[in-house]
Amino acid sequence: MKIIASVQGMQKITSDLHKKSKTIGFIPTMGALHKGHLKLISESKKNNDITVVSIFVNPAQFSPTEDLARYPRPLEHDKKLLEQEKVDYLFHPNVKTMYPNGFQTYVTPNNLSNILEGKSRPGHFAGVATIVLKLFNLVNPTNAYFGQKDFQQCIVIKQMVRDLNLPVKINIVPTVRDKDGLALSSRNVFLSSQERLQALSLYQSLLLGKKLILAGNKNVKKIKAEMNNYLQKYKLIRLDYIEICNIEDLSIVKVASKKAVILITAFVGKTRLIDNIII
Ligand code: PAJ
Repeated sequence: MKIIASVQGMQKITSDLHKKSKTIGFIPTMGALHKGHLKLISESKKNNDITVVSIFVNPAQFSPTEDLARYPRPLEHDKKLLEQEKVDYLFHPNVKTMYPNGFQTYVTPNNLSNILEGKSRPGHFAGVATIVLKLFNLVNPTNAYFGQKDFQQCIVIKQMVRDLNLPVKINIVPTVRDKDGLALSSRNVFLSSQERLQALSLYQSLLLGKKLILAGNKNVKKIKAEMNNYLQKYKLIRLDYIEICNIEDLSIVKVASKKAVILITAFVGKTRLIDNIII
């Protein structure tokens, strides 16, 4: 695996690959890799000539009160995992490379950045869209891979690709979970064993919501209340939101149906976790 840190280095490699008509699969990450990331990589390996992974903890998507400084950065371990997966290139720029002095141009999704995660984390999706666009410009991928776990992020990226006519296909990969159902996340390392146990209730409540909808319940308020009720038993959980949304544009649905996704976000102790389930 070749490791590239510079903008010019990355652009030269991908422009040479395109001259040779190679397809490029790209997986943007912030590192602290786990089996969820590895699943995206294996999808890319299956469907492209060359696979590029980026590791960049993007300051622009963290607000000043969030966990940027303590975000895990086990780089040597990450490199080993990527070697094992036979990734061709790791792009690992530093902050000055991506945001040199004087940087000022951001991409901001209009409505999508103000709802759900965007409401709780102002500026987050402008940070995500900006870095992903920059990375797309450097890597020039044929296919890019994103995890369903960050459902709103997937919708934001798809919208940006449509709005800005970007020549890349966005592929969404289902959420990878631990055996007991907890969605894998780089932030799970922050959970104590008690918090880890209680964190399971997020997925359990999503399963409950899905079951209610599939059984014919259409009353969004009631479904949310039942899910909320279930979570009350878990004292380490502090719910941020449960919403039932249209899977295409994330508008909040009035009547629950099979075209919906249930999204949940909660603090488990000090750690903020997100999860979702498609009906
Ligand atoms: P990060 O949290 O490192 O996630 C990188 C990719 O892995 C995202 O597409 C995310 O949805 C996916 N992923 C995370 N957990 C997963 C799981 N359990 N199953 C399947 N896929 C999973 O998301 C980001 O980084 C950043 O916002 C980024 C897109 C890199 C922009 O900075």
